[in-house]
Amino acid sequence: MSREASYPPGPQGLPVIGNTVDLSRDIFAFFEQLRDEYGRVASYQVFGTDACMVAHPDAIQQILLDDHEAFEKGDVVTRNLDDAMGEGLFLAGGDQWQIQRTQMQPAFYRDRLNTYVPEMHATAGELVTQWSDGEIINVIDTMTATTMDVLGRTLFGVDVTENSVVTEASDAILARFDTSRFWSFLPDQLPTPTNQRYRRELEQLQAFVDELAAQRQAQEPENRGDDLLSILVGFVEANDLTRKEFRDNMITFLFAGHETTALGLTYTALCLAQHPEEQATLRAEIDAVCDGEVTADDLPKLDRTANVIDEALRLYPPVYMFFREAMRDVKLQGYEIPEGTTLVLPQWVVHRDPAWWDDPETFRPDRFVGDTDRPEYAHFPFGGGPRHCIGMRFARMEMKTVLATILSEYTFELVSEPEPDLIASTNLKPSGPIKLKLRERSEANEVIP
Ligand code: HEM
Repeated sequence: MSREASYPPGPQGLPVIGNTVDLSRDIFAFFEQLRDEYGRVASYQVFGTDACMVAHPDAIQQILLDDHEAFEKGDVVTRNLDDAMGEGLFLAGGDQWQIQRTQMQPAFYRDRLNTYVPEMHATAGELVTQWSDGEIINVIDTMTATTMDVLGRTLFGVDVTENSVVTEASDAILARFDTSRFWSFLPDQLPTPTNQRYRRELEQLQAFVDELAAQRQAQEPENRGDDLLSILVGFVEANDLTRKEFRDNMITFLFAGHETTALGLTYTALCLAQHPEEQATLRAEIDAVCDGEVTADDLPKLDRTANVIDEALRLYPPVYMFFREAMRDVKLQGYEIPEGTTLVLPQWVVHRDPAWWDDPETFRPDRFVGDTDRPEYAHFPFGGGPRHCIGMRFARMEMKTVLATILSEYTFELVSEPEPDLIASTNLKPSGPIKLKLRERSEANEVIP
């Protein structure tokens, strides 16, 4: 396909580095400006690579669902993450992906997920018992430790918080892929300090997950349970999964599963602290539904809590964009997209687009009540189609359980700035701590919903 009039319009960047400088300066403003000036399918260049932003829900649905077989994750994603998780579920393609998705799906069936709720509730409960009235927490650190703990206990049957390997490797790996920094666009073979630290930590992490497998294999199969670690180990023993696939999946789940959920919880807590009346409504709902404990049966009844989480994920999507590569020539919204083009699907832009959302900057959970005529893919925090987030239900259950456990005993009051500065790192992160003051429930502290 030639790049003629029907190729999506876009700005001319500087020679060689294309639009990379603008992009790494303020990626959110860059994409919003691209939409406003050139439309919801628009082109740009990064280091000589032709890329297109796709910010129209119908085109997003076409890529993720209707024509999904015409798109793969592509070089932009695999290049940098290959040695850490190239053969794991997140990056694998074709048959390898299909087989793994089928192998791992049972760990995420609704009935199986229900059995994780007591661990989720217990982990949040332990946190709450350490708090006291008036204490100020750095909410992102608190939530990160909590989600890491939940993930380790439920999917791998271990207390990962006892071992610093995971948190240190996590920091090093996330720093390596921090797109807010110019060097994350540089090849990872360059011996920069970030790259060297990344390699060192990655090796330690691989040794750690190998050790977890060895411990599990040392147990009799009937005593192993059926968590994700046992499922993976079983497939390795049956020669249906290679060692590299095993390691890459362990690392995939450690990374895909904890920071994203921690950020989801952080932004929900922030929105609640900004809106005390909404917080009071949630507490009333939680009091009515939960009887001291938060159980799996309670979760589907926490409707308002679900609306609040959806609205927080709309305003602050932890995954603020992701990529695909066109595997053949395709047509999107009337434009011709040649094979090999990198496509970026930016939740940030779509979730705040006035075309689909009235008053898009305002927190309004009612948007998610009842039917709407909004296009389905105007809200896609967990992606969509066959490659949608396998942990979506897990994350939703965890967020509800943790919030319900906390709000049964405490409310949040905002201490830091009402609107945090955000950075486009590996995930959407606040640039500094978000500080919340904890208020123990008492009549004096009660807000009437
Ligand atoms: C609020 C929390 C979360 C958010 C916002 C989120 C977001 C996403 C998104 C947008 C994708 C699709 C990426 C793409 O299509 O390129 C994805 C995929 C994935 N997520 Fe999540 N995620 C969350 C929690 C989790 C959890 C808790 C787990 C694991 C326990 C998990 C594991 C994965 C995996 C393995 C994939 C790849 C699935 C595949 O390709 O088949 N995520 N996630």
